[in-house]
Amino acid sequence: MSLTRRTFLTSAAALAVARPGAAAPGPAVLEAREGMAQILPAEYPATAIWGYDGLTPGPEIRVLQGGRIERRLTNALPQPTAVHWHGIRIDNAMDGVPGLTQDAVAPGGSFDYAFVVPDAGTFWYHSHAASMEQVARGLHGPLIVEEAEAPEVDADHVLVLDDWRLDRDGALVEPMANFHDLSHAGRLGNVITVNGSVGHTVPAARHARLRLRLINAANARIQVLSLDGLEGWTVALDGMPLEVPQPVAGRFSLAPAQRIDLIVDVTADTEAFVVDHHPDGGYALITLPVSGTASAARRPTPAPLPPNPVRSVGHLDDALSVPVLMEGGAMGGMMGAMMNGGRMGMREMMRSGQFWALNGTVGLPQAPLVEAARGRTVRFDLINDTAFPHGMHVHGHHFREVQADGTLGPWRDTILVDAGARREVAMAADNPGDWLLHCHMLGHQTAGMKTWFRVA
Ligand code: C2O
Ligand code: CU
Repeated sequence: MSLTRRTFLTSAAALAVARPGAAAPGPAVLEAREGMAQILPAEYPATAIWGYDGLTPGPEIRVLQGGRIERRLTNALPQPTAVHWHGIRIDNAMDGVPGLTQDAVAPGGSFDYAFVVPDAGTFWYHSHAASMEQVARGLHGPLIVEEAEAPEVDADHVLVLDDWRLDRDGALVEPMANFHDLSHAGRLGNVITVNGSVGHTVPAARHARLRLRLINAANARIQVLSLDGLEGWTVALDGMPLEVPQPVAGRFSLAPAQRIDLIVDVTADTEAFVVDHHPDGGYALITLPVSGTASAARRPTPAPLPPNPVRSVGHLDDALSVPVLMEGGAMGGMMGAMMNGGRMGMREMMRSGQFWALNGTVGLPQAPLVEAARGRTVRFDLINDTAFPHGMHVHGHHFREVQADGTLGPWRDTILVDAGARREVAMAADNPGDWLLHCHMLGHQTAGMKTWFRVA
């Protein structure tokens, strides 16, 4: 006993010596730094990326629902940075938005994130500083919050989809932003990866039941997917369980930042696929080589995942209704907008790389879009008066779509609003603080498509 204790003390002292300045053990470190990743097939050179702990995707963070996450972000990048914990209904001070909830962390600096995760589900974390560049360079990772009673599956796979614009030497095509991308669909890539490499495979047993957690970490690409040799159900969207699992039939799409949790049974004999559909055809994004001879007995529909403790939307009739008009971009016909407190013509906006506006303002306005009393029901009326789709994301809250027939859709944190479309979402604004509402096509966000609201 005493020997064990002595050994422990000695090694603890040795650690303290080995890491000067680390007298008290701090939280686990998440370092934003440069790294090399084999994104292209092995015969091509590796890619210089920026990643958490030098990896892309970054290390998986996994915690039990209701648990606490503590990470010390250290910045070894040549630029300021910050981490946003996407989809977590978080303490505002931990939301990771420079200029709104914290100062960006300078090169060489650090910031301690510590927060409780109220909801179980599939989430992710990513840079929210110069995010068009930093996320495109690889600064994102999965954040999985486990249910106390997880559904019974044979395997649980986290699958982070990304989209890279690389040249033949595997290098990121520079510059990271150009006026064409900013004013059109954003930085679309030419290489699509799953968990950081092309041609991802997931070995599976015959008739196995799998949970697939798909996360779209791409800057701009809307993924259109289907299943082949797999039969299953959508059980959660953006981390929030569906009340009733929905059979997957045909194609489904995943806008940037969106997640989908599927429970699927392997029905193929030799190979199953997750297929990615492009205008010029489909290809196997994920291949599941099938082995073994498990029983072919059909399994029942999975039970719904346990619901998360989200506050119900409340009364729609006396809600605070807030129009959010999206304007600008190529072929959008916008003449000008408010920028930095003054009126600007489109030409002037363009000269500073700004192309998009929400309610006539480019970038974050001085005053919040709306200030809601805590608990108040808020309806955002998302009106897309542009020639492009936008994936609109609300920080700190999940919302439900108010559908055409007045019923409420599933809980989400990001909704795709097609060109020319109008979608309305509602939520109880119950998380105090200052929160972003922005397009998660990061080129659009960079070029003006963002605003903020306050819950007091
Ligand atoms: Cu994924 Cu403003 O965030
Ligand atoms: Cu957009």
